[in-house]
Amino acid sequence: MSVWAILVAAGRGERLGLDQPKAFAKLGEDPLLAEPLRRLEDSDWIDAIVVVAPPGWEEPAVLLAEELGCGKVNACVPGGETRTESVRAGLAEVPADSLVVLVHDAARPLLPEAVIERVLAPLSEGWDGAVPGLAVSDTLKRVGADGAVAETVARDSLYAVQTPQAFPADLFRRAVDSMAEATDCAALVEAAGGRVKVVEGDPQLLKVTTAEDLARIASWLEQ
Ligand code: CTP
Ligand code: MG
Repeated sequence: MSVWAILVAAGRGERLGLDQPKAFAKLGEDPLLAEPLRRLEDSDWIDAIVVVAPPGWEEPAVLLAEELGCGKVNACVPGGETRTESVRAGLAEVPADSLVVLVHDAARPLLPEAVIERVLAPLSEGWDGAVPGLAVSDTLKRVGADGAVAETVARDSLYAVQTPQAFPADLFRRAVDSMAEATDCAALVEAAGGRVKVVEGDPQLLKVTTAEDLARIASWLEQ
């Protein structure tokens, strides 16, 4: 098996503010986690899946995967305090002979098959990683603590980056081992000197942060 997906779902979801972790917030009838799990399972590009669950929620995550008939789920492990720690826990379950690792946030449930294809393609052209990004459309300003604008930042080369993010497995393992923390996986690879390509993202890959995000995604699903 060569392409392994790590689905990171171990966050607490503090900004969503529910009693249960964000991955188990209801999106329609099912827990949020069901949607990205189903999509990874159905993807022609993914061979195996590791679910990184909130600590103490491994069993409900495994039951959900079974209910959904997700035969590609090979392991379900508890996550860590930070996203990077959770990625590290998931990566420990990926066998040494795997070729590619694709890391995806469960908090971005609407994962299009086309984006999976787009982030995998550059790896066969020698890139050290590929991430989906959207060109920033708002004007950006750097603002001081007192609220005063310090500068207007040229936005033409700025992208908002999403997941899934794909990397050659060996290189990714070295990058994750060599660095303690980063806000996304690509930053670990960049810090290790890797060349990461940005491919076209998708507005559907909106990350659920607040209750409004969850409601918006639910309405998209109903359409
Ligand atoms: N994540 C994780 N382990 C952590 C923190 C985050 O697996 N310790 C995962 C989340 O489950 C999510 C993704 O990383 O799928 C992006 O994180 P974020 O949107 O910040 O989710 P939470 O950390 O759960 O939310 P909050 O920051 O509001 O608590
Ligand atoms: Mg967080």
